[in-house]
Amino acid sequence: MSNNDFTYGLATGIAICAGLFSLGAAFVYINNQRAKNAKAAAHASQPLALSSIAVSDDRASTSSFVPNETHKISPDEPNPATLVRLQHLFEVNGDKLSQIAKHMVAEMKKGLATDDSTLKMIPTHVVRRPKGDETGSYLALDLGGTNFRVCEVTLDGRGGTRVRQSKHTVTDDLKNGTGAALFDFFAECVKQFLLSDDQKEVTDKDLHTNEFKLGFTFSFAVNQVSINSGFLMGWNKGFSASDCVGKDAVVLLQDAFKRKRMNVSVTALVNDTTGTLVSHAYSAPDTYVGVILGTGTNAAYVEKIENITKYKKDPAGAKDMIINTEWGAFDDEMVVIPRTKYDHKVDRGTANAKSWTFEKLISGMYLGEICRYVLVDLVKTGEIYIAGGSKSKTLSVPHAFETAFMSRIERDHSLDLSDVRTVLEDLMHIPGTTLADRRLTKAICEMIGKRAARLSAAGIAAIVTKMNKLDGCTVGIDGSLFELYPHFSNRMRDAMHEILGFSAENIVLEQARDGSGQGAALIAALAGKLTA
Ligand code: BGC
Repeated sequence: MSNNDFTYGLATGIAICAGLFSLGAAFVYINNQRAKNAKAAAHASQPLALSSIAVSDDRASTSSFVPNETHKISPDEPNPATLVRLQHLFEVNGDKLSQIAKHMVAEMKKGLATDDSTLKMIPTHVVRRPKGDETGSYLALDLGGTNFRVCEVTLDGRGGTRVRQSKHTVTDDLKNGTGAALFDFFAECVKQFLLSDDQKEVTDKDLHTNEFKLGFTFSFAVNQVSINSGFLMGWNKGFSASDCVGKDAVVLLQDAFKRKRMNVSVTALVNDTTGTLVSHAYSAPDTYVGVILGTGTNAAYVEKIENITKYKKDPAGAKDMIINTEWGAFDDEMVVIPRTKYDHKVDRGTANAKSWTFEKLISGMYLGEICRYVLVDLVKTGEIYIAGGSKSKTLSVPHAFETAFMSRIERDHSLDLSDVRTVLEDLMHIPGTTLADRRLTKAICEMIGKRAARLSAAGIAAIVTKMNKLDGCTVGIDGSLFELYPHFSNRMRDAMHEILGFSAENIVLEQARDGSGQGAALIAALAGKLTA
């Protein structure tokens, strides 16, 4: 598998199942909420600071796994001892989440002052959010991880946008070849996009006589020195193209346009989280945080410039600036988040081992791989797939168990877990699974998916606490995990309650769409007004 390109079928059957499921989920959620609200009420008189946050015990949800002396284990049930052991490994309870959030606030402060923090806290030079009345048509490029897109975004001045786009897969060869080949590919996609515009009838000659301006969403950690220049700090998410690290991403792109004799100037270099924040603020002005939960993960938020003590430039009268936290690298020194041996195995299998380790617990690029390592281990100990586990060659192929499979497994509520069987037997080639095997597989997906959601929530709780916005703000969230992975958003909301108590009610977690395309266009369009 090249990467976790989430491809989710929209077949009616799935939609109906999802619909039925969400009714069930809503019911469970309401019941959980009641219990949590009761706990939160007990804490309501306390100040809403991370040091005194409401704590709830996530273990309650695992009680059904604990064997009861009088209860005979049915052959259809997974072994309770296996479940309890794994649950214990992957559990991050409310107390721990609070500690994690507190540590993140401390690292954020450190990163605003120096470069000596796991959180890079990169000043983006974007100093204002849009008002929603901006108009015009702008070009944007978006390199996220799995895909590359070329977009033309038209802003209607009332918070609405229209987008024409072309989408291209970035193959493993391109990701791991030369930097020049990668950037030539981007330039070629832009060329074809411009030439295919029926309305404007752009010709080859126009490409080098007319000037085209664009915003470039480049979703990797860059040391951003101005609104349109930034040096790549290191690749992640499966990229390792040569001659790029330490170089200015805008110069690399601009050079590729020159090689094609195209007159394109890059007026803004944008991280996808910044784009998400800015574009969500275009329609929801109370947005102060942009988060990506997809192939990779990260967050950007609005910080007071006076707090960014490492920022030495003249902010030209601006008071706030968007900070790209690069939270994927949070806790790389491994002091606060409990890791399992499976997490370490996943990390060791990456090109950037020992870095971006928070991302490796959360994002779509890695969740399936964590799950695969657990399954491989259980096959070895004889705790799962006794009939056919050792016969499956696919199970031992790195990344063969996709995060999209976990999503599909968690969505299966049939009595015999028939879709789980399809994933295991047809896609993973594990013959003869039992119902107990399938239930155990599903429970493992739940544990890993739930941990990812809860850790992301701890990150958001830390950011809103740092911003002092516990009295209310909107968080725009984009990415396939938040949008499509079953229960992800509800699990995040539960965890936010455990960390922040009643204040969590004031934080709106909202689906953001296409921040990478629209945000880059907005920032490019408004470079003069929005940036310093
Ligand atoms: C990158 C971030 C990006 C995130 C989401 C991470 O791997 O380092 O810059 O925002 O992925 O795409």
